[in-house]
Amino acid sequence: MVTGGVAAYKAAYLSRLLIEAGEEVRVAMTVEAHNFIGPTTFASITGNPVVTDLFESDLTSPHTDLGRWADAVIVAPATAATLARLAHGLSEEVASATLLATQAPVLVAPAMHTEMWEHPATKRNLEVLQRDGVTVVGPGEGALAGGDQGIGRMAEPEEIVAALEKMLAGPLTGLRVLVTAGGTREAIDPVRFIGNRSSGKMGHAIADVAAHLGAEVTLVTTTDRPAHRQVDVIRVESAQEMADAVEKIESDVVVMAAAVADFRPADPAIKKLRRTDGPPQIELEPTPDILSSVMARENRPFVVGFAAETEGIDRAIEKAKRKGTDLTVANEVTEAGAGFAHDTNRVSLIHADGGVEHWPLVAKVEVAERLWNVIAEKRGR
Ligand code: CTP
Repeated sequence: MVTGGVAAYKAAYLSRLLIEAGEEVRVAMTVEAHNFIGPTTFASITGNPVVTDLFESDLTSPHTDLGRWADAVIVAPATAATLARLAHGLSEEVASATLLATQAPVLVAPAMHTEMWEHPATKRNLEVLQRDGVTVVGPGEGALAGGDQGIGRMAEPEEIVAALEKMLAGPLTGLRVLVTAGGTREAIDPVRFIGNRSSGKMGHAIADVAAHLGAEVTLVTTTDRPAHRQVDVIRVESAQEMADAVEKIESDVVVMAAAVADFRPADPAIKKLRRTDGPPQIELEPTPDILSSVMARENRPFVVGFAAETEGIDRAIEKAKRKGTDLTVANEVTEAGAGFAHDTNRVSLIHADGGVEHWPLVAKVEVAERLWNVIAEKRGR
């Protein structure tokens, strides 16, 4: 949001910095802002049309469209009048209407003359905004409009970008996470494979939630499900391809939700097997054990294994101990509403010391959220 102050010219450079940081930027400006800068400047920098009017826009409902679209809203410069409107929930023009319509976090960069900044009304409004969860950056001291000097100068664009990054940082920011998901397919011949019932939903939910919490996520998956836009997706098919992909990735936490085949046809046929040749004898050989290779790494990451069981939790507890993982997510796949292809799951979490937490039947996304809470706590975040 660009509102009517001389610092509006700095909002153009701010837009450029945001674009360079890989963000998509859309600008709305008030009528007063037009006195200082034109919409063409912002449209050229951002590659998006600029919204200047609540009623004369290509969007049917500009304030709600923009408000819903944004991951964060920056008001730069924020005039004293804008802060007052925002503090009182007024919505008579595009900037304040969008601010009222958004649920995204809001950052304001006030800019005004010292007298206005120090006025009790402005102070009151700012207190209200801070209570409402608005982040305030600046103002700084220096040259103001009309040759004046003092406090009230808009924060520099670099400072605003840094504050935005801080505001948006999640609890997992900076953590490198690798997730495996889906069931592997081991070729019998060019058309047939040995597979399993894993849908990849649990692993994808774990990757998506980690990205949402700020982690740098790589997802090695056998499914073509969509993933959170910040997730780096590597698609594979077989256990070998999954092992090769995992081996190349350095990470701090590895969550192995994939259902990896333990055995594969030793010598898959190059041509399709024919019915007329009779039932084939398929010799199997072991696949690489991905989890063990990760566990054997020098400086190994924090490892979360999965244990899909059909004969009760005891086998999972024994498996967790044998594999030495930091956490094991165990589930009884035959239980109604849990395990493969469902949107819900009932899991038990087995800690490295053998302690077990039984979690209720909840959505897979919630299982993922709970899991990341535990991991974040264990990693001191
Ligand atoms: N796993 C793996 N590589 C394999 C097989 C399994 O990395 N070749 C991982 C899975 O992603 C899971 C964990 O190991 O996180 C346990 O998988 P599971 O199949 O339950 O364990 P197994 O050791 O194969 O035990 P069992 O077949 O006896 O149940």
